[in-house]
Amino acid sequence: MAPTNESGTFDLDGELTVNRLGFGAMRLCGEDIIGPPEDEQSAKEVVQQAVDLGVDFIDTADSYGPGVSERLLRDAVDTSEITVATKAGLLRNSDGEWLNHADPDYIRNQVLVSRDRLGVDSIDLYQLHSPDPDTPFEDSVTAFAELKDEGFIDHIGLSNVSVDQLEAAKEHVEIATVQNQYNVLNRDHEDVLEACEKYGIGFMPYFPIAAGSISGIDAIQEVADAHEASVYQIALAWLLEHSDVTLPIPGTASLEHLKENVAASSISLSNEEYSQLVGIASTSQ
Ligand SMILES: NC(=O)c1ccc[n+]([C@@H]2O[C@H](COP(=O)([O-])OP(=O)(O)OC[C@H]3O[C@@H](n4cnc5c(N)ncnc54)[C@H](OP(=O)(O)O)[C@@H]3O)[C@@H](O)[C@H]2O)c1
Repeated sequence: MAPTNESGTFDLDGELTVNRLGFGAMRLCGEDIIGPPEDEQSAKEVVQQAVDLGVDFIDTADSYGPGVSERLLRDAVDTSEITVATKAGLLRNSDGEWLNHADPDYIRNQVLVSRDRLGVDSIDLYQLHSPDPDTPFEDSVTAFAELKDEGFIDHIGLSNVSVDQLEAAKEHVEIATVQNQYNVLNRDHEDVLEACEKYGIGFMPYFPIAAGSISGIDAIQEVADAHEASVYQIALAWLLEHSDVTLPIPGTASLEHLKENVAASSISLSNEEYSQLVGIASTSQ
């Protein structure tokens, strides 16, 4: 039987309800997140299958491809029927560099580009991809706030920020989500997650299964064996269990991995299993 998304729901800004287990669309692109994938049809089928399995929250960015991930989403599904979170603030070049670019003029340009590429009147969740050292953080945030006032975007998110930056942004505008690197092995941003819990903000842990490299760790394997599950499923189940505000967005270009990841939403860890995994971050790094 096909899995269904049983991750429970979260209300972005208290008003836009999404299933907590989402999908990350970065890996739909070609090698190194540059250009299209070899098989576009297959990439689109992964997105369609995700939605069929109950995923209604998909993360992307203008810089994935660049443009390719957003285009594939629009080609694959009715983007107005799901919640799409996209981002601006980084450039991707053909040398594989991610370059900061979050000045207000660029952000204002990109929102129009993403809106057109996604085929929506307003973007559900628009995220500052990363603070830009060459642009005052508050200027970038103010650009997002203005775009919300002007009706181009519905909700605002931040990515790759500290607690201080989150709190500074909150002085200007309501923040719906924060997206930082986080998984069962790398909990460097625990303080940011805790701040999100305090303020009722969604926390999107990117790299939630450490790009498929969570393996060979006895504590995770033991729990996986007990559930006849994969270690990746246990890593996702742990993220969902760890906090009510986590919104994991595992990415894959594989239908098989997609089904496996969605099925993780029905795994319930015992208190003992959860505690066993809480301790491994410090011992595995
Ligand atoms: N804000 C940021 O700066 C930032 C940075 C990075 C990522 N992100 C977002 O976060 C999302 C997820 O991050 P991520 O893709 O870097 O990391 P991830 O979800 O932890 O890992 C994805 C990788 O793991 C593999 N994988 C997926 N499911 C698997 C499974 N069940 N078993 C074995 N391997 C599996 C995938 O390969 P296959 O295709 O072979 O399955 C893919 O290469 C991205 O799509 C993007 O939307 C944001």
